[in-house]
Amino acid sequence: MRRLQSMVWMMSTTAAALCSALTATLADAGEQPPAAGLVRWSSEEKAVLASLSLKRLPPVPVDPSNSVEREPGAVELGRRLFEDARLSRNGVVSCATCHDPAKQFQDGLPLSRGVGTGTRRAMPIVGAGHATWLFWDGRKDSLWAQALGPLEDAVEHGTTRARVAREVAQNHRRDYEALFGALPRLEGLPADASPNGSAAEQSAWATIDPRRREDVSRVFANVGKAIAAYEKSLEHAPTRMDGYIEAVLRGDRSGAGLLRADEARGLRLFIGKGQCVSCHNGPLLSDQQFHNTGVPPRDATRPDRGRAAATAAVRGDEFNCLGRFSDARPEQCQELRFMVSDDPALEGAFKTPGLRGVADRPPYMHAGQFAALEQVVRHYVAAPHAAAGHSELTHRHAGAAATKHAERAPIELSEAEIADLVSFLGTLSTPRSAVANQPSVSSSAADGGTAAAYRMGHLELPQGR
Ligand code: HEC
Ligand code: HEC
Repeated sequence: MRRLQSMVWMMSTTAAALCSALTATLADAGEQPPAAGLVRWSSEEKAVLASLSLKRLPPVPVDPSNSVEREPGAVELGRRLFEDARLSRNGVVSCATCHDPAKQFQDGLPLSRGVGTGTRRAMPIVGAGHATWLFWDGRKDSLWAQALGPLEDAVEHGTTRARVAREVAQNHRRDYEALFGALPRLEGLPADASPNGSAAEQSAWATIDPRRREDVSRVFANVGKAIAAYEKSLEHAPTRMDGYIEAVLRGDRSGAGLLRADEARGLRLFIGKGQCVSCHNGPLLSDQQFHNTGVPPRDATRPDRGRAAATAAVRGDEFNCLGRFSDARPEQCQELRFMVSDDPALEGAFKTPGLRGVADRPPYMHAGQFAALEQVVRHYVAAPHAAAGHSELTHRHAGAAATKHAERAPIELSEAEIADLVSFLGTLSTPRSAVANQPSVSSSAADGGTAAAYRMGHLELPQGR
């Protein structure tokens, strides 16, 4: 995770530099791309294209805070816990309710619905093992700690750790004990007790002996570790864009037909004039960083502070890398120890989402503010002021002074270019037939490890829902 972070940074810096260089070259050339996807790419452009290919995705980084993440038994137990609605307060909500394997592990809703309705959109899970910070605001520092959030969230599973421990003892005892050793004695525990729940649940928690509280919290943490192992086994399948890029790099002219002319022009805009690749970079098309791009809040009276409100949460989280339920040594928690938390740019900033499969999972942004991709692209051109903090995007009418001092030039796109970019985003989906023909999805990634792969995901994907 730590290694990848610096790699992504490198890519992001290089891409940003190339971006402006490219824009200049292209403007000079003024060239019209030929029919089909046959665009001539410069060597700089080819370098950026290569950096987006799924083949370049490194193996999912090892998380030292989770010692079971590579155990096949944990992957299997994690999958069952992920789908287990008995863990929830009302017995009908599971992780899969909001992260449906048939919908790229999200729910297609602007705001997720569990026991109640939340304030943000569910995120797709495949590839999340590559992120240092989880959630739109990054308030968790590992997948296993992340998984514990929804369980005790009042509007998601709405459950408590005491109930989770009992459910595990009743329904998953054998698999749990094979991985983590004997379960503690749970007799006599209050039905619902947690340090995070309602007032009644918190006082029930306070009545439990501290040693037993730790035992229950450890079972709870282990549930997260098994779920994380399962999530890390999910992989992306190659898309049309990947096939096209590999063909371009091989110099295979027939492969260039994988993209239509408008899609190829959109790809060129994505890595050049549109500046998209300065944030959406690397094989997952995300720099895994936080940016304020001025997306209008759903509730204007209560703008979401995003990353700015999350750094204290992750530092104070009992399940973080430095906490007593982590399997890491303190020196393995560099990201948390050196986390940036005092930068004003974090106000109203959200994690750059990966874009694989994006066309098939509207709506968009952290609270599903935009219903269609065209609206998203128009947002970058409009570059509105942010409701909280300052947008990194420069408004094109901001005036010479603003442009001169701003880090980024305004993103200016014609109507035709907006349409091309939207067409390109459609090439980030996996064609159903292509996946079905893959002998083994996992062998295409440099991984070779756990192979639950993405077999459940894209195969079922409803095209253009
Ligand atoms: C009620 C719907 C709901 C349920 C149930 C739910 N989630 Fe989520 N999930 C969300 C929402 C909404 C977000 C984004 C929330 C935010 O950023 O504040 C999210 C974010 C995530 C992320 C972050 C991905 C990333 O790239 O940062 C992961 C991983 C995840 N959920 C896994 C799980 C797991 C595991 C469970 C079960 C233990 C679960 N979720 C249960 C709605 C849900
Ligand atoms: C300054 C960094 C930055 C730039 C430049 C940028 N994006 Fe984004 N993008 C983000 C962030 C951050 C979000 C999430 C914002 C939010 O939810 O508030 C996002 C969200 C998106 C989404 C929605 C994905 C989803 O799952 O909700 C799409 C699509 C997208 N961007 C495409 C583009 C395109 C196309 C361009 C180029 C025209 C571009 N982005 C330029 C950072 C950036």
